[in-house]
Amino acid sequence: MTLLENPTARFLMCRPEHFAVSYSINPWMKPKRWAGDAGAHAAAEREWAALHRQLIKLGAAIELVPPVPGLPDLVFTANAAVVLDGKALLARFRHPQRQREEGHFAAAFRALQARGLIDAVRKLPKGLVLEGAGDCVWDARRNLFWMGYGPRSDAGAARAVKEMFGQDVVALELADPRFYHMDTALAPLPGGEVMYLPSAFTAAGLAAIRERVAPDERIEIAIEDGRRLAANAVSLGSTLIMSGCGPRLRAQLAERGYEVVATPLSSFLRSGGSAFCLTLRLDRRSVALTTFEREAAVA
Ligand code: ARG
Repeated sequence: MTLLENPTARFLMCRPEHFAVSYSINPWMKPKRWAGDAGAHAAAEREWAALHRQLIKLGAAIELVPPVPGLPDLVFTANAAVVLDGKALLARFRHPQRQREEGHFAAAFRALQARGLIDAVRKLPKGLVLEGAGDCVWDARRNLFWMGYGPRSDAGAARAVKEMFGQDVVALELADPRFYHMDTALAPLPGGEVMYLPSAFTAAGLAAIRERVAPDERIEIAIEDGRRLAANAVSLGSTLIMSGCGPRLRAQLAERGYEVVATPLSSFLRSGGSAFCLTLRLDRRSVALTTFEREAAVA
């Protein structure tokens, strides 16, 4: 497998000091159950630390957003922005509970810009909602963004992404409230496969995926893996980091040359998030396709 990975993968993360399930904006979140579980916060701290350690062990560099009291979901940095080619398009959130994160993520990106790690920081046009890489994921092999819309992001945001980054955007309507962010149900893998949960998409969305992903590049996961948020994986070279993975999916991925590293993140699943949600890749670059490759891609 040839991988066009950058020498150092750089991620944005946020320590879970103030993480909790204190409101409910998706079907995973049960604040009462969380409040009644004395060990919940400590478990989250341990799980997050293990993920952080794993990424560092694999050679990644980690940048941190300072945690803020009263913003429990700030840990889900995937939602901060869409980032590509040194440009960041800051998120705008659907729910008031998370809108309060916007200013903190903006400040974090300005700080990254001051350090030369990001070149440009932009806002979405007025009125448009897009929850960052939670709903807009770069596919390095196809040179396009997959964008989910419906529960958390507006279909109209596709145009803003296209204009800002000058890249194609394939907008997919989401169909299942449990998979309210596209990254909970779809992951483009570095070798060109796309791992996804078919039932998370509308018929039109599914058709759009299958139109662009050849049958031998489709990894359609079962609902059991969907519910473990296996599609919410971080890929680093040929390693896929996820909270959990059934034996069948693990074998299927191994056959394609991927090693699954399972690092339990069940505390974050209680909020509707997993490995990918807890990270945001800052160093992705698009590759200008040669004419030959462009022709091959449409052939
Ligand atoms: N509780 C958070 C929310 O509902 C979880 C966000 C998960 N992030 C993600 N990129 N899927 O907004």
